[in-house]
Parts: sequence; structure tokens; C-alpha cells
Amino acid sequence: MSGKPVCVGDFEQYAERVLPKAVYDYYRSGADNQQTLADNVAAFSRLRLYPRMLRDVSVMDLSTSVFGQKISMPICVGATAMQRMAHVDGETATAKACRSLGTGMMLSSWATSTIEEVAQAAPDGLHWLQLYIYKDREVTRSLVQRAERAGYKGIFVTVDTPLLGKRFDDVRNKFQLPPHLRMKNFNTDDLAFSSEKGYGENSGLAVYVAQAIDPSIKWEDLKWLRGLTSLPIVAKGILRADDAREAVKHGVNGILVSNHGARQLDGVPATIDVLPEIVEAVEGKVEVFLDGGVRKGTDVLKALALGATAVFIGRPIIWGLVYQGEEGAKEVLQMLKEEFQLAMALSDLLQCVISFSLCMVRTEQVVYVLQLAFIG
Ligand SMILES: Cc1cc2nc3c(=O)[nH]c(=O)nc-3n(C[C@H](O)[C@H](O)[C@H](O)COP(=O)(O)O)c2cc1C
Repeated sequence: MSGKPVCVGDFEQYAERVLPKAVYDYYRSGADNQQTLADNVAAFSRLRLYPRMLRDVSVMDLSTSVFGQKISMPICVGATAMQRMAHVDGETATAKACRSLGTGMMLSSWATSTIEEVAQAAPDGLHWLQLYIYKDREVTRSLVQRAERAGYKGIFVTVDTPLLGKRFDDVRNKFQLPPHLRMKNFNTDDLAFSSEKGYGENSGLAVYVAQAIDPSIKWEDLKWLRGLTSLPIVAKGILRADDAREAVKHGVNGILVSNHGARQLDGVPATIDVLPEIVEAVEGKVEVFLDGGVRKGTDVLKALALGATAVFIGRPIIWGLVYQGEEGAKEVLQMLKEEFQLAMALSDLLQCVISFSLCMVRTEQVVYVLQLAFIG
């Protein structure tokens, strides 16, 4: 990249140049041969937009709301672990950037900043906690209670990680945190993924998950979680209509259609390809979100047209942090916001609450054609 970044890819190119290899590999990688990693992006490209014309887009409203909390745009920040490897200010920089742009941030359980530090960094910001269910249920309970006390507005429970996906580069690099960092929400070396502990020849994180995270969780455990908190609960990592219905039956308030940024089971579909069937399955009973491969304003528009309330971005924020900490994360969010606004304007849509209709058309690999209904 020479000069100012003009697209998300430019931020990534910069990050690749300046980050230590093992850190860049950790942030970038998908599982196995990374088929799904490529498909998350390619699937957006297969969709075509059918814009309308001449409907006065001089005044537009990009805002929407998530569980009653207003956000300035339907683009939120998803949980990515260990952000202080990307920039010294890590998650607190992300929280400030989100607050500046008027959107929400999901904090990883595996953050290198505490739940409370993030709340204090952006006291009037909108925060949600991403939750892993630990073998030690008291640890899990305490994370939820701390988030509730610190004013977080929801819990995104990750349901796709009974074990960690095999990420070849992390195995080769024997990935672990640098010695000066810890997963700061935990106070023992074991739970804080401290480099003081040995992790052998494997990806350190894969060893950590096998030791600490509960692989026996079942749908009934969502009821246990429901009993712990009155905050909205979102199941993060749903890819099938029957699982979506199951999640609704077990009391969740939302579904995040996600394949964990293609880092868990390789070969699963791109998230945008399964979004319509999940939206249909939940029959409007809960909010549906999407993450995975969102890199451009038109990707956001496509996800909304297919029924998502909002999208979450993972890696793009990491690249922004590497570029310039809080300012870099802000630039990424601002860029996506402007691209989304442009996509709306060029489709002659005035509001981002898009009523959608979907028709099936076949042209080579293209399955869906979007017909964006005009509202406003
Ligand atoms: C470096 C990295 C770390 C992640 N850490 C977590 C995590 O701690 N918990 C979690 O539920 N998902 C985690 N994810 C998955 C993201 O929440 C999200 O599903 C994914 O990044 C979205 O795809 P995208 O990166 O293509 O935008 C992580 C993803 C990346 C790339």
C-alpha cells in the first residue's frame, strides 16, 4: 500500500508488512485448507444487486437498533481475541473507536483487557460480552456477572468451539501470547493463557481450549445461562435452520450466523449463503445477525437485504488497530460506513431497515438475486 488506505484490503496489507509473522498468521488464518475462509468473501461476490433509480436519496438514515439500543449504522465490531498483540491499547482502543462511530463492540472472553477496563475506556459506549463456557462454571458465571455489573448490554455465547479448529500456521508457529500479555479477565496462569505455561509442539491456544473450555455443553446449558442473567443472549455460531429453531426454543434473544471467521470447521458454507434459511426459520421471533467475510459496504447491504439486522466485522478491526490504534479502528469503521451509505444511495434506498424479497435465478454459480424493495 502506498499512501492512505482506500479499502479494507489496504489495511491488511499494511498489517502483514509490520506484524511479527506468528501474530499476523494468528489473526489471518482459517482452519485446515481455508476453503471456507475464501468462500466467506467469494460468496458475497456471487450475489448481484438490482438497484432502483430516481427516488431522491438526498436524505438518508443509516441507523438501526440492537435489542433496543440505537446504533448509528448496522455495522458492529465482533469479538476478536488478544487485541493487544495488534496495538498496545488493544481492546480499549477498539471500544473508543466504536463509541466515536456510535456503534457497538463485542468483547472477547479472551481479551487482553478486562471487562471493566473496556467499560471505563468508553463509559457511554455500547458493549456486549462474548462468552466461552468454561469447564469451571463459576468462572463462566463470574464473567457474566462482571459484564452485567459493568453495564454490558448482552451476552454472545459462542456455540461452535467445543475444541479449537486446526489452524496450520498456529501449529507450525506453536502460537502463544507474548510474555508481557495475558488473557486479562482471568487471574490464574492456566486460565490467562500465560506463556509461563508450556504448550508443547501444538498451537498453544488449541491446548488451552482442550484444557479449559467445556466440550460437553448442550442446548440445555443455554437454559442455565438464561437463569444467570436478564441480559439478551445471542447464540454465536449458528449455521443451520434446525439449530436456529433449537436456539429459539431454548430462550435466546438473537442468532449470530457465524462460522467463526472460518476458523473452526473447514468446509462449512459461507455465512451469507445460509443467512436466508435461518432468517426464515426463526420467523421473526429473534434478531438475526451475520459475520464472516464482510469487507465492503455492498457486503453489508447484501446481508441486510437477506434479513440480517446488522453485521459484525472481525479481522478488519484488527488491521485498523495495527495501522493506527484507535484512529485506525475508527478509519476502518468510517470507511465501511461511507461505503455502505454509497451502496444505499446507489440502490436508491433511504433507510437501512430494508424490506427484502428474494427470487431464485440461475446464472452459472449465482443462486440468489436480490431485489431490494424501495421504502421511505
Ligand atoms: C483473530 C481472531 C480472533 C477471534 N477470537 C474470537 C473469540 O475470542 N471468540 C469468538 O467467539 N470468536 C472469535 N473470533 C471470530 C469472530 O468473532 C468472528 O466470528 C469472525 O472474525 C468474523 O469473520 P471476519 O474476520 O471475516 O470478519 C475471532 C476471529 C479472529 C479472526
